[in-house]
Order: sequence, then structure tokens, then C-alpha cells
Amino acid sequence: MADQALAQTGALKDPVGPRPVADTRYTLRYKLAWRWRVCCCWARYLSIAHHRNARELTDFVLDNHFFNASQVRGELVALAETLAQLRPDRALEIGTFRGGTLLLLTRLASPHATVVSVDLPGGKFGGGYSTHRRRLYRHFARRDQRLHLLQGDSHSKEMFEQVKVVFENKPLDYLFIDGDHNYEGVKSDFETYRPMVREGGLIAFHDIVEGQAEAVGGVPRFWGEIKHGYVHREIIADPRQGGYGIGILLVE
Ligand SMILES: C[S@@+](CC[C@H](N)C(=O)[O-])C[C@H]1O[C@@H](n2cnc3c(N)ncnc32)[C@H](O)[C@@H]1O
Repeated sequence: MADQALAQTGALKDPVGPRPVADTRYTLRYKLAWRWRVCCCWARYLSIAHHRNARELTDFVLDNHFFNASQVRGELVALAETLAQLRPDRALEIGTFRGGTLLLLTRLASPHATVVSVDLPGGKFGGGYSTHRRRLYRHFARRDQRLHLLQGDSHSKEMFEQVKVVFENKPLDYLFIDGDHNYEGVKSDFETYRPMVREGGLIAFHDIVEGQAEAVGGVPRFWGEIKHGYVHREIIADPRQGGYGIGILLVE
């Protein structure tokens, strides 16, 4: 009886909840929906691919639902404008997730830049990205750029060695730390990769504003401890927003 009543409501035609694994109808529908989203997003991406305008690129990143970024619009625009001025030749991003900040970086770096993304599959504070996404992220590189997508733990010695090899021991112009947000994690990323950044280079941190522990981890505490040792800038849309906020250090 209950099933009959449910069938009359139509709920059984389109059940919610866990998808039956063996139901190819759903698998196909899921795959088609995924491809459709990718195509729409890619078409829009190609239409802005030649833009170098920080605001337009930021709007694209925050308004599409695929190559997204967990950022506040005004803060990301300010970071993008800073990158547009810096035009880094060598840039490292720790923590890429849905690719939005990496996309911005490749668009705003120099046309011959080497850009490296380090992300841990299944990592905390996001979860990394799939092989499908990896295939798409590879196309972020402009014609003469080199983009390396290194999947692994930024704290490991192997990863540090790999990063050094990719940059051929040349100094970085820009380091973005947005990976493991635990206090020990952000501290380790800073202490490991900071010596690779050249004098006059920039190090940016995300989530410097106090907020929910599962979102910001120990970043606000670590930022508070180090910022006064450097010429620094805080990009914070609203100090009461809870989380987010970008801190930038100038390496001297
Ligand atoms: C907050 S997300 C990055 C968000 C992205 N930068 C943005 O603005 O949209 C953090 C990413 O760091 C990665 N991560 C966490 N721990 C890591 C580690 N030890 N090494 C490398 N990546 C890590 C996670 O997998 C996740 O994808």
C-alpha cells in the first residue's frame, strides 16, 4: 500500500537519496549531466580565456559552478590585481581544490611562467580533485607556460624535492598557501617553501580571519604570529565575516 501511494505521487520515478549502484539509467544521466556542465563551463571559459582583466577573471571564477574558488569576491579581486602587477614567472599554489585560484594564477602570471599546483587527493579542507578535473586543469596553461599538477602531501620531503626540481632551483616570485589549514600544517608549508621565495616576492595566505575551526583551522593564529615580522597587507572584506581574508607578506 505504501509503495502504491508513493508511486502515485511520482516519487518512485525520481527517487531521492542514495543512487542504486547498478542502475545504468542513473549512471548515464549523471555522466551526461556532468559532461553538459563541463561543456557549458568550458565554452564560457574559452570566451574569457584571453582576458587579463583581474575583475572579469574573478567574476568568471566566482560565478561559474565548476572551476570555482572558496573566496570572497572583493578579496579575490584585490589578490588578482596584485598578481596582475607582479606577473610572476614562477608561482606555487598549495591547495587548488576546484581550480578557481589556479585558473586566475595562470591567466595573470607571465606568458612564459612556470606554475605549480600542489594538492593532496582526499586532503582536509577541500578534498583535492579528481582525474577528470586534472585533465581539464592541464588546459589552464597558456601556450608558452608550463603547468605542473603535483598531487601529494605538501609537507612530505618527496614533494619538496619534486617542487625544487620543477622550478630548477630558481626562486619563486609568488607562493600561495591555502592547503592544510591546521596550525602545524600552515606553519610547515610556510617554513618549507618560504626559503624558495625571492627577495621582493610575495607569499599569500588564505583564511586569516578568525572563524569556524573546521574552515580556518590554525591559519589566523599563525598569521597573527608572523605578520609583524614582514611588510604585510591584509585584504579583509569584513572583519566580522567569520573566516576568509587574505594576508600577503613581502619577502625582504
Ligand atoms: C581550501 S582548499 C583550496 C581552495 C582553493 N585555493 C580556492 O581558493 O578555492 C584546500 C585544499 O588543500 C588540500 N590539502 C589539504 N592538506 C594538504 C596537504 N597536506 N598537502 C597538499 N594539499 C593539501 C586539500 O585537498 C584541498 O583541496
